[in-house]
Amino acid sequence: MLEELIRSWDGEEVVVRFDQPSGVWMFVCVHSTQRGPAGGGTRMKTYPAPADALADAMRLSAAMTLKMAAVSLPFGGGKAVLAVPVLPDGEDRRSLFLRYADLVASLGGNFQTGPDVNTSSADMDVIAERCPYVYCRSEEGGGSGDPGPYTARGVFHGIRASTRHAFGSAELEGRVVLVQGVGNVGGQLAELLAAAGARVLVSDVATDRACGLADRIDADVIPPEGAIDIECDVYAPCALGGTLNAETIPRLRCRVVAGSANNQLGEPDDAERLRGAGIVYAPDFVINAGGALNAIGIETLGWDRKTTDARLAGIGDTLAEIYARADAEGITTEAAAKRLAQARLA
Ligand code: PHE
Repeated sequence: MLEELIRSWDGEEVVVRFDQPSGVWMFVCVHSTQRGPAGGGTRMKTYPAPADALADAMRLSAAMTLKMAAVSLPFGGGKAVLAVPVLPDGEDRRSLFLRYADLVASLGGNFQTGPDVNTSSADMDVIAERCPYVYCRSEEGGGSGDPGPYTARGVFHGIRASTRHAFGSAELEGRVVLVQGVGNVGGQLAELLAAAGARVLVSDVATDRACGLADRIDADVIPPEGAIDIECDVYAPCALGGTLNAETIPRLRCRVVAGSANNQLGEPDDAERLRGAGIVYAPDFVINAGGALNAIGIETLGWDRKTTDARLAGIGDTLAEIYARADAEGITTEAAAKRLAQARLA
């Protein structure tokens, strides 16, 4: 199964380590180094089988190649997945990240990482003890800190560009936006939207988290199982990927899908399904690039705050360009975004 998966992939390199002490499978996927070293987060999760973790890492790393190119960063795409039996903490977590750091260090900078699902700046600080190829260490640790707020700001700019395309105005006052998943990124996005005058609906499998946030920003809470069916202007998927598929797309009652989750489409055909439904879809690998832009901009490219903020706002301009192209060429927004990225990879 692993062998077949690796053979079928179009990336450059897969590094597999089985970590004996913890029973953790580590998969580092270097999808492309054409534009520079492969950059991408380290995701930690439980999976039904190691092959599922590898498949996830492969798909996510390919999306990173497109993301880096779409926002013109001099990086390629990669991703690492730590497939854990249970999420570790304390000393187990620390020693796991130190051993993982040795693995990343051994790649000599070909793969450079940052936080992702279930990993944080504190984990990046641990990796940095043994490996220089790591972004988003804590600010005390000399890094650019949690990328979440910057990802959220990029998505916010992307939502404005998307509503401008769908409704002719980027004004969010009175717009109904459903944020599905209010973790680190979704929660901060909800706050930005509320501050801009949008009517915010929030939904999360962790009900207490959704309710606490809703109280703070005066939002309404939607039960997670009903979120997809809710009438709204903008649906913002900010939890795990794969929520848009043949079953859910016909149920959507929004004009725009624009959120931070990676890998939002269940399969490639779903882009056409969204187009057929008249929905403006912000390709995930473009709209969620803010975290990588901020970290790499601040830590490696020497950008000041002003430049970085302008680049975050540029995510909206890039989406506007993608929407215009998709309309002009009669193709999906996903296809238009891929063309834009691929032109920079050629
Ligand atoms: N999780 C980030 C993303 O998907 C990965 C990342 C963060 C990569 C910071 C590089 C630097 O974009």
